Amino acid sequence: MIIAIDGPAASGKGTLARRLAAHYGLHHLDTGLTYRAVAAALLARGLPLGDEAVAVATARNLDLSRLDRDVLSAHEIGEAASRIAVLPGLREELVQLQRRFAMEPPGAVLDGRDIGTVVCPDADVKLFATASPRERAKRRTTELEAKGKPADFDKVLADLERRDQRDANRTVAPLKAAEDAHLLDTSEMDIETAFKAAVDIVDSVYAE
Ligand code: CDP
Repeated sequence: MIIAIDGPAASGKGTLARRLAAHYGLHHLDTGLTYRAVAAALLARGLPLGDEAVAVATARNLDLSRLDRDVLSAHEIGEAASRIAVLPGLREELVQLQRRFAMEPPGAVLDGRDIGTVVCPDADVKLFATASPRERAKRRTTELEAKGKPADFDKVLADLERRDQRDANRTVAPLKAAEDAHLLDTSEMDIETAFKAAVDIVDSVYAE
């Protein structure tokens, strides 16, 4: 069983993916962390973000069991991740890793930007989580404040919109909903409501 969840930053896809994985007893991979881990390794060694061969070599050494969002959450790492995510060779390498993870029994929930379209086009269920930019910026600001990192709403909103643009307009694997994805607009939902809505969708697909 494979569940694919895509959507823009702070759409709630990560929390949904984690909760769905626990609910159905599946593995979970936050694919954003694979791009973040490569970006962090390049930044730490002062290597250029545009060198595809270096990025690919770094990706080959990734250990998926050691990815940690707390360690990789820095804003600069997110920015660098979205910049290296335009490199086709790097994407190919990471997509191979992600597919191998998805094939492990009993199955997995993967969340990202291109899971339903590129990584797992044959996923059993595809969800596309969205929320308005303002709502997403509100969530991100609250999240940062909770971590003791003061955040300015307008700046967070501008950052999100810039990253949305970059992710949606790149030529390789742009952020977009698969044709057979179920749209889940979480603008008016708290996480519990969104989770229940997602479970309803997954269960209804399985009841067919
Ligand atoms: O946490 P947030 O949603 O802001 O970002 P993330 O999921 O950690 O992903 C960071 C960046 O990696 C995104 O802006 C994308 O450019 C890239 N990414 C991607 O291209 N494909 C994926 N499947 C996941 C992330």
